[in-house]
Amino acid sequence: MNSPFNAAPVCVPCRLAAIGAVVLLAGGAFVWTAGWLTPKRLSATAVVDQLQTDGGTHAGYRRNHAKGLCFEGHFESNGAGESLSRAEIFRAGVTPLIGRFSMPGSNPGAPDNSVPVKSMALLFKLHDGEQWRTGMNTVPVFSVRTPEQFYQQLQALQPVAATGKPDPARVAAFYAATPDSAPLRQWIATHQPSSSFANATFYSVNAFRFTNASGQTQAVRWSMVPELPYMALDPQAVAHNPGFLAQDLTQRLAAGPLRWHLILTVAAPGDPVNDATRVWPADRPHIDAGTLVIERSVPQAVGACRDVNFDPTILPAGISPSDDPLLAARSSAYSVSFNRRTREEAQRAAPSTRESDENNEGNPGDHS
Ligand code: HEM
Repeated sequence: MNSPFNAAPVCVPCRLAAIGAVVLLAGGAFVWTAGWLTPKRLSATAVVDQLQTDGGTHAGYRRNHAKGLCFEGHFESNGAGESLSRAEIFRAGVTPLIGRFSMPGSNPGAPDNSVPVKSMALLFKLHDGEQWRTGMNTVPVFSVRTPEQFYQQLQALQPVAATGKPDPARVAAFYAATPDSAPLRQWIATHQPSSSFANATFYSVNAFRFTNASGQTQAVRWSMVPELPYMALDPQAVAHNPGFLAQDLTQRLAAGPLRWHLILTVAAPGDPVNDATRVWPADRPHIDAGTLVIERSVPQAVGACRDVNFDPTILPAGISPSDDPLLAARSSAYSVSFNRRTREEAQRAAPSTRESDENNEGNPGDHS
């Protein structure tokens, strides 16, 4: 599909090299500062290896959030975010973007009801040449507070040979030993997944520091709140079509663009800014900074999002990472995953080969 982002002739190896260089620099810096190179400490490689052990190795695909599709659109800033951040994106005006909808998990052929969470990733292309990359989930908290807990969780969820499923006793033991995971489990137990990507709210979960033109810095989380009203997912719809969500999105976009509002939530002193398992009280200030408009979806095999690493630490001046230890871990792990999948991609013959492979994995939704 033609688009401002993928129609022009591009040198794919150059594009990958450029992206890889940025990612390696960013990832390398965080690996270093996070101490992941210290012997006997958890490494990003070990985390990504465990993701593959749990979900299988699917060449050319992300090691997490493997199933997904690309989209294109823009952000219409209303100027209200300028009070919090001097990032150019918050000046009133329009910023082009590409993005990706996905589901957690390593298997690109998993049915849409295999997990109760959906995800949205965005790459805003600021006019001053900077980028803002973010990945969000449809849950307001994360399952764990630290990278070590994330790794232990993956180990607990590793399928056992006898059943092909995780050992329930091991999973229960992990949750019992990790009370930080309780808020997410409670939220999932009390909220039905939405019927569509289009009517889901997506949350940054991690906190970031926003600095405005006067030099004031505050901790902020954000969410993308849809204009469409929430509706619960009909389990039958997914049971009959494992690629239901991508097809639904394409149909909706054929009727017109879809819109979300970027809501910035400001922490009060004492709110946890380094713990993604805890929500902030509901009365914290919320600023509607503008409207995300999604215009087109594109199968990920041929879309611009395929070769993007949505590293959440790639930020414009005016936004910087918080002390949340998940951010450095995400940056390093996404880099390992990106390097593996783009190396595999480069070894493949042509996009059409990959597309037919996806169909063989029973993932028709990617090609709607
Ligand atoms: C230690 C914690 C985490 C680890 C190790 C981790 C690991 C990963 C990996 C390896 C990928 C694939 C990256 C790629 O190949 O480009 C990924 C993708 C993703 N993750 Fe995480 N993740 C973590 C936490 C989170 C959190 C807290 C969120 C959201 C709030 C999140 C949201 C996403 C999303 C949306 C994607 C898909 C991005 C895309 O479309 O390319 N992750 N994660």
